[in-house]
Amino acid sequence: MTTFLLLLIVYAIALAIGLARRGLTSVTKISVVPTGRPLTRILIIGATGGTGRQLLVRALEQGYVVKALVRDPGKLSVEHPHLTVVHGDVLDYSAVEKAVRGQDAVISALGHRRFFVLTRILSEGTRNVLRAMETYSVRRFVCETSLGIGTASAAWAFTTHYL
Ligand SMILES: NC(=O)c1ccc[n+]([C@@H]2O[C@H](COP(=O)([O-])OP(=O)(O)OC[C@H]3O[C@@H](n4cnc5c(N)ncnc54)[C@H](OP(=O)(O)O)[C@@H]3O)[C@@H](O)[C@H]2O)c1
Repeated sequence: MTTFLLLLIVYAIALAIGLARRGLTSVTKISVVPTGRPLTRILIIGATGGTGRQLLVRALEQGYVVKALVRDPGKLSVEHPHLTVVHGDVLDYSAVEKAVRGQDAVISALGHRRFFVLTRILSEGTRNVLRAMETYSVRRFVCETSLGIGTASAAWAFTTHYL
């Protein structure tokens, strides 16, 4: 069991380093593709992260107008005429409220690398997002979560459940 846990920790560290390095390597320039349908405005939270950056690129490629709320704009190496980058922390409600205003949907790829420390980034951050969405009547929310949120826990294997 100890060996397995050690391997898991080494894997988590290697994965975190790999994803962080990948996010910093290049500036991606995406061309504008006419889709022939109305542009939808999407706020992406966590766009500097591993999955968030992929979501951002795919959304721009598909013709969405994207706003990204990021803590460090220097980390977002993507350029596009339909991309607006706003500086802010999801724990700061006023920053979240400003970012959510005028959007049609919000996608959250919020996460943290503090694997062994308790944080409120996901709980407080998501609460701020939902509160701002209610304030501006934004109805669509897509949220990436960890294993076992809500009814997903029913699908857990026995070993995963007790790890
Ligand atoms: N990767 C996977 O295979 C996988 C699988 C299942 C579920 N998930 C879940 O999906 C989510 C995203 O995963 P990921 O691997 O893409 O995460 P990640 O690479 O760690 O990215 C997390 C993102 O959240 C941002 N963030 C953290 N704290 C913030 C704050 N206070 N204010 C604003 N932004 C903040 C980070 O910004 P900074 O760049 O400034 O730190 C980063 O952009 C997580 O909840 C994870 O549990 C991931």
